[in-house]
Amino acid sequence: MKTAMKGLILSGGRGNRLRPLTYTRAKQLIAIAGKPALFYGVEDLVAAGIRDIGVVISPETGDEVRHALGDGSRWGVRFTYLIQRAPLGLADAVRSARAFLQNSPFVMYLGDNLLSGGIAHLITEYRNNSPSAIILVTPVEDPRQFGVVVLNGHGRVARLVEKPVEPPSNLALVGVYLFDPGIHDVIDSLLPSARGEYEITDAIQGLVDRGRAVMVHQVRGWWKDTGRPEDLLEANRLVLSQVSRDVQGHVCDSELVGEVVVEAGARITNSTVRGPAYIGADSVVDESYIGPYTSLGKGTTVYRSEVEYSILLDGAEVRHLPYRLDASLLGVNATADGQRNGVRRHALRLVLGDLSQVLL
Ligand code: DAU
Repeated sequence: MKTAMKGLILSGGRGNRLRPLTYTRAKQLIAIAGKPALFYGVEDLVAAGIRDIGVVISPETGDEVRHALGDGSRWGVRFTYLIQRAPLGLADAVRSARAFLQNSPFVMYLGDNLLSGGIAHLITEYRNNSPSAIILVTPVEDPRQFGVVVLNGHGRVARLVEKPVEPPSNLALVGVYLFDPGIHDVIDSLLPSARGEYEITDAIQGLVDRGRAVMVHQVRGWWKDTGRPEDLLEANRLVLSQVSRDVQGHVCDSELVGEVVVEAGARITNSTVRGPAYIGADSVVDESYIGPYTSLGKGTTVYRSEVEYSILLDGAEVRHLPYRLDASLLGVNATADGQRNGVRRHALRLVLGDLSQVLL
């Protein structure tokens, strides 16, 4: 009998590109349509039948991740937390998980990646063909921020390069991979890259160099790496474009148009909400306009303001805004307050870290 497939979720790292939001928070816990980014990956692993999941965490944000995920029982799975002492790269994260992974094949899922098509087909492929690795690729406009894959004429992987200045192809390496235990030997022989990290991209190149079978799949549906604020907004758009109307909260003298989720305990009064939009539990929206692709976290307040294509995390508040808030990200308990009776002008773009305050 083959060893059961394990899961490995990477939730360590630094999150430099998401500052100021990640000064106070693990980037994988930023909520997209009310749910931490990390949970989408967990749910993909669970849906594919994986029950034993390792979670790589950093010493800095590990407790927060543990607290958010728990022991796995809410998904009927078991989480094992694995501390990676320093963010030395994705291959180093696998090395930190070695005792947990043992000789099992595993699906590695980067905690800040979102994929609409699930991963069940990767596992079927592995069962049928037993390759050393399966990778996912998709064409992107700017491959320089990703691992880049070059295929040969037969659709096989010829070479991979991490974040090339001059990309040799437009195929980005998606942050969801399936490996057999043979990857560990390759990782043991890796040297750090120019940016000082042990790259999983180099480990996959090592498999190719050793003549092992690396299969490649094109992404089905969409994929998003939520590494930068604009990516989070785009991921929010993609997730919201799949939601269906579900109104649990209280709605009074208001118009809800299209696919709008209003969680229990939320109150929408004298307002218009144009979906797709997500209004978290216990939020208050009064005398306001919430436009398409907006997510409000738990306990947020929007009063006499217009908000569109934005994410407000838990407890964030906007009041009397003189501008329409557009393409903005407000951290937990951040506030933006305009003057009472102020004149409403054009649009405003903000990225506010947790607990920040703006007076307009
Ligand atoms: O998103 C896909 C890209 O992910 C791939 O195209 C690249 O080949 C791959 O290197 C990776 O690039 P990023 O620069 O986006 O990786 P990032 O540093 O953002 O880390 C991805 C996740 O892994 C993130 O949730 C943090 C976690 N991580 C990262 C490092 C460097 C760890 O757990 N430990 C680490 O040492």
